[in-house]
Amino acid sequence: MLRRTFIGLVAGLLLSTASFAAYPERPITLVVAFAAGGPTDVIARIVAEDMSKTLGQQIVVENTAGAGGTTATAKVAGVAADGYTLIMGQMGTHAAAPSLYASLKYNPIADFTPVGIAGITPILIVAKKDFPANNLAELIAYVKANPDKINQANAGVGSTSFTTCVLFRSIAGIPKINEVAYKGTGPALNDLVAGQVDFMCDQITNLAPQITAGNVKGMAIATPERSPALPDVPTTTEAGLPDFQISGWNAIFGPKDMPADIQTALTGALDKALSNPDVAKKLTDLGTVIPNAEQRTPTGLAATLARDMKLLEAPLKASGVAIK
Ligand code: MLT
Repeated sequence: MLRRTFIGLVAGLLLSTASFAAYPERPITLVVAFAAGGPTDVIARIVAEDMSKTLGQQIVVENTAGAGGTTATAKVAGVAADGYTLIMGQMGTHAAAPSLYASLKYNPIADFTPVGIAGITPILIVAKKDFPANNLAELIAYVKANPDKINQANAGVGSTSFTTCVLFRSIAGIPKINEVAYKGTGPALNDLVAGQVDFMCDQITNLAPQITAGNVKGMAIATPERSPALPDVPTTTEAGLPDFQISGWNAIFGPKDMPADIQTALTGALDKALSNPDVAKKLTDLGTVIPNAEQRTPTGLAATLARDMKLLEAPLKASGVAIK
């Protein structure tokens, strides 16, 4: 009897060691809940490439856009927690969406296993290049005077661009204007460059090259300091709107109950990627801020998520934009 128990124990131990040693034994899908070419996608692809080398298996980025990123996020909340389907969640889909949808199909805390933050993204207000305003104060004045003429782009209800412009308009006292929802701010930025829409609030990772090239006007960055990637763009404090301070973030999550050994392997690979100077340079050249050691961990991500869910709840609910 004792002998059988001992053999059973050893077999169980060997099996669990084998499953740890085996992960990952096939490619991993990293879902991006927005169109290709936007900030979430760009950050996902940069870190996934390096993490793939560490893990010895390809991380394949899959873009599934819809409903401000909430459709794909809900889908990943329900997949098997085997480490083969992950999501590049972000401030919009995880911290803001619960305050924007009365019947959201996922709970950002209970339905996910946090892995770590991959990139922090200062928010900018950016306008088309021939917008009749040359600074933030002029933009606010023009939008207030001409609300019917303005089209503001975003990536849908639940996205970072939607959320941050709700906050911007409320702090600036801008009334309701027309909003144009895209599958991501990648395509939205294309239309801004083409002059089809007037302005948007977006994560820096999408914007730095287009602002530098003069294809769009960077009106202000919502951080205390200017970005080294865009030294000519003033802060919102310098531009006269000091209360508008916000950065987005993009972070890897698995579905809930992902085994701890898989979570550890993924967090380690993310940390290694962000410690690689070549990866860090690709991200910082685009203005992305590299998460510190704590922010790259599950606990750091969980703390950031809880903080931002709380921070965003009151202003988003007060704005009255929630969808039933
Ligand atoms: C957002 O607004 O949440 C993002 O910019 C979406 C995207 O990555 O395209």
